[in-house]
Amino acid sequence: MSLVRLDKFLADSGLGTRSQAKLLIKKGLLSVNGAPALRPEQKVDPEADEIFCDGRLLSHSSLHYYMLHKPAGYVSATDDPTAPTVLSLLKGAPGRGLFPVGRLDKDTEGLLLITDDGPLAHRLLSPRHHVDKVYLVKADGAVTDDDLAWLRTGVDIGEKAPTLPAGAKLLSLEAENNRPVSFVELTIHEGKFHQVKRMFQVIGKPVLFLKRLSMGSLTLDDSLAPGAFRPLTEEEIVALKHPKSPLQSNCSEGKRKGSD
Ligand code: URA
Repeated sequence: MSLVRLDKFLADSGLGTRSQAKLLIKKGLLSVNGAPALRPEQKVDPEADEIFCDGRLLSHSSLHYYMLHKPAGYVSATDDPTAPTVLSLLKGAPGRGLFPVGRLDKDTEGLLLITDDGPLAHRLLSPRHHVDKVYLVKADGAVTDDDLAWLRTGVDIGEKAPTLPAGAKLLSLEAENNRPVSFVELTIHEGKFHQVKRMFQVIGKPVLFLKRLSMGSLTLDDSLAPGAFRPLTEEEIVALKHPKSPLQSNCSEGKRKGSD
């Protein structure tokens, strides 16, 4: 662990000269581990401290965050005696103790966040936080307006209470082997076991294919093929950790180059 002065750390991070860095601190734009940082001489540990400038993460956190495009055939677990796990797809990626945030069924594809940040995972999965999850559903049969209204209002899937109100949008109605199939975008705010499949089972249009498109602020990167992964960007990490603090421009590239 090596401690450095906050203004030196900012200058070393490319935010400008030491005096420009002091100005940012004076303006109250800095925080260290969630607390406002108002003294240029404050000592920080760039490896361990979470240092934000105007909502932008500057420090190199020792935690790891990956977006995986989960393919079918992999289980969302850290190990499994019978099937390959999603973690086997991240071989060689830095990070010990990585785990998937939540579960997608073995045959479900799409966005899976893999991290070693336990508190963040806890927050994203906690029923209290109602994080939106958006799915592309291919369903057997023609989904009707009544079905959509039912999905939106709440479906009795055999739990204590019906599912919470959801977003449901019919994307297209097609024919496959002379049978109707429907493509629906479903947004749910909870994560009951096999929830999407159970909801569509109840409306009588069983799921044929399921893919998660987004979770909270995190959206599956179109350029990731099934089985591929990439580290999250700083912006994606900040948006997940601090959903209500959009990035602002005070600590942006332009300022760093001294365009003040
Ligand atoms: N709902 C399901 O039924 N399966 C999943 O994998 C995710 C949500």
